[in-house]
Amino acid sequence: MKITEKIKQPIDYEMELFEQKFLLSMSSKVALLNRITHYIVNRKGKQMRPMFVFLVAKMIHNGEVSERTYRGASVIELIHTATLVHDDVVDDSNRRRGFFSINALWKNKIAVLIGDYLLSKGLLLSIDNNDFDLLKIISVAVREMSEGELLQIEKARQLDITENIYYEIIRQKTATLIAACCSLGAASVRPNTSDVETMRQFGELIGMAFQIKDDLFDYGNEAIGKPTGIDIKEQKMTLPLIYVLNKCSSKEKKWLINSVKNHNKDKKRVKEVITFVKSNGGLEYAVTKMKQFQTEALQILQNYPNSDYRDSLELMVNYVIDRKK
Ligand code: IPE
Ligand code: IPE
Ligand code: MG
Ligand code: MG
Repeated sequence: MKITEKIKQPIDYEMELFEQKFLLSMSSKVALLNRITHYIVNRKGKQMRPMFVFLVAKMIHNGEVSERTYRGASVIELIHTATLVHDDVVDDSNRRRGFFSINALWKNKIAVLIGDYLLSKGLLLSIDNNDFDLLKIISVAVREMSEGELLQIEKARQLDITENIYYEIIRQKTATLIAACCSLGAASVRPNTSDVETMRQFGELIGMAFQIKDDLFDYGNEAIGKPTGIDIKEQKMTLPLIYVLNKCSSKEKKWLINSVKNHNKDKKRVKEVITFVKSNGGLEYAVTKMKQFQTEALQILQNYPNSDYRDSLELMVNYVIDRKK
């Protein structure tokens, strides 16, 4: 059995129902919107965020979820989808989930509006059902994601990023949403318990590992359903490069910075930078850091009693690191 199937086994029923509810949650009277949302739903991603929501809820509530859990999972996936649609505009990226991105097919104007539409549908799903505690968790994540993307742009302009700023960027742009999945999963069934905060921390650690993995993909050539090798072109400095910048000679550092600053659209030069980062241990360092976050996340799980759900969450943590896309 594939590892993802094994992870999903204890939440098979919930994930199937979730998919129906998720499709309904996007519906609109505007034909163009429906055409695009159908396009999105037909090319679904890994759905890791709803999986976290259901697995956490079931782990801490004797295998039971509620309607709040389903709504929370839909809101999170709506918001995740919205941010990806916007992110591809921001990153000028033409592929997503193995096919054309929304901006590649319908241009930026429409992609921006689609992202806004999905975001508002998500927020309204919580509001219309009085899930204000869940809405708060989600809104904090949305604010942080925007801040994280902007901080990343600011640092791309100044090219003065440190390892700690990198962690702050990925914590905000990626880890907070996965943290929100886990705390919301807990809050949906056991509001106002300490599990809500513990699961937030758990999710944040996974989210950190998750984004380091995503940034490592950019250094590879594997088919992951979206472009690779575009971070340097976008002057995005990620952990492998930051590490190498801090340990190489000042002459090499000048060459690296100059490459990113003035030759970022030169394919040959970018390739040389990538090769330099690889041969100076940049990838190994990032892998080590990623595994530290993984280990910390697994430790938190050890405080919960053994169950199928905990087993799946454990597999999920490992999948974040071993995944091929
Ligand atoms: C992509 O997230 C965006 C990042 C935070 C790196 P996923 O890799 O979970 O995207 P999908 O939903 O599976 O396409
Ligand atoms: C992650 O950013 C997406 C968001 C947090 C919005 P990236 O730009 O690094 O992600 P990918 O690689 O395009 O999925
Ligand atoms: Mg981006
Ligand atoms: Mg991107």
